[in-house]
Amino acid sequence: MAPAPSEPRPPVEPYKVKVVERIRLPSREEREAALRAAGYNLFQIRSDDVYIDLLTDSGTSAMSDRQWAAMMIGDESYAGSRNFAHFEETVRTLTGFPHIIPTHQGRAAENLLFSLVGRPGTVIPNNMHFDTTRAHVERNGSKAVNLAIPEAYDLQSPHPFKGNVDVPKLEELLRGGPALVPVVMVTLTNNTGGGQPVSVANITAVHAACRAAGVPLYLDMCRWAENAFFVREREGGMRDLSIPEIGRRFFDLADGATMSAKKDGLVNIGGFVATRDTALAARLKEQLIIFEGFPTYGGLARRDLEAASVGLREACELDYLEHRIGQVRYLAACLDADGIPFVHPPGGHGIYLDVARFLPHLPASELPGQSLVVELYREGAIRTVEVGAVMFGDAEPGGPPPLELVRLAIPRRVYTSAHLGYVADVVRRVWNRRTSIRGVRMVEAPERLRHFLAKFQPMA
Ligand code: F0G
Repeated sequence: MAPAPSEPRPPVEPYKVKVVERIRLPSREEREAALRAAGYNLFQIRSDDVYIDLLTDSGTSAMSDRQWAAMMIGDESYAGSRNFAHFEETVRTLTGFPHIIPTHQGRAAENLLFSLVGRPGTVIPNNMHFDTTRAHVERNGSKAVNLAIPEAYDLQSPHPFKGNVDVPKLEELLRGGPALVPVVMVTLTNNTGGGQPVSVANITAVHAACRAAGVPLYLDMCRWAENAFFVREREGGMRDLSIPEIGRRFFDLADGATMSAKKDGLVNIGGFVATRDTALAARLKEQLIIFEGFPTYGGLARRDLEAASVGLREACELDYLEHRIGQVRYLAACLDADGIPFVHPPGGHGIYLDVARFLPHLPASELPGQSLVVELYREGAIRTVEVGAVMFGDAEPGGPPPLELVRLAIPRRVYTSAHLGYVADVVRRVWNRRTSIRGVRMVEAPERLRHFLAKFQPMA
């Protein structure tokens, strides 16, 4: 039945389905048992016990028939594989960076870069560090600081580019020059802050500040195509440009980038680090051989590189992006209709529920974000992720408290709008009983990246 005119309209898929994967809604009893066995940590739940998996948009994309066809032309040579040549050419064309070093995923690229540029006594800023980025910065002795604009912390601010860097603050930090700041990172889109985009104007100002201080600028370009889509829509003079053309507006201002192709590469595994710095590239390759593999495969099967070459291009197609961002907006409209609070405007890869307004009766010490994650699973076997006190509570001692969010990340080309309608129903059911939801306590936590392995207990 067609929706009434007042109801949000789902976007129409620019593809049809060729292969299906069965999913099953576990019973209420099974869900309770799964929660108990997992220590109330959704990372510890088997995917067979999940109905709609919104844990991450990373490595969870459905590949296209063209990508699967590309997998069949893998040239699995250790050295000099033609698939690497194609991958290198694709990434060079899209980014303009001359040195392309493949890695098995984004954090491997981060490991290579930060193990060479990070050191004690230095500070590495970002609009907002993602968890693995922060971990690699800190593992190498640098201090990771977040320098997003104040609007990024105002969950209702309609600012069109809430991923932007606070340039005056950056300039202040850059007074210490390269001795203090070995590299400036900017993440497109700002995942930790709600999948919010960064404007070309902002990168231009960041670039000028970096140049003046003699500090290189690197982009975390995991979701660069989604970022470019927002730029095309929201920034003056960009409307007639293609996604790759907008991408070059960013990349031409940067010295290099790290990439997880598991996002805007539309593959299940893969990534790279890219740079203009020939000397650094040589050292990155030495590191690569120790940790990942030879520079023409970087920890991947060569067929994976071929699939990424195709996926990187497909992620730039406008009809794909319109549908992708359209799905996020559709879910946003469904939740808005019920007055459910989330980060506005909706970002590129998911909805971020505003936990402080969802569960205002729970103090921070009762980990309301984690409680909400548990309740969404309990209600409808939806797996989401806490982006708040558990993920980042121990990140910057003395720094601003992290935003308290629950992310519903939408995998690319995987779920239909009917699935998203189900998700909206489940969130609404939890919303309707929100005042009776109780907190959780962390009863076990590893030292680093504790959200992956921590165990929790419901509060009595
Ligand atoms: N940078 C950003 C902004 C990310 O979102 C991620 C991964 C990485 C780097 C690391 O990439 O997973 O390929 O090693 N984000 C996923 C997420 C895991 O769920 O947001 P990776």
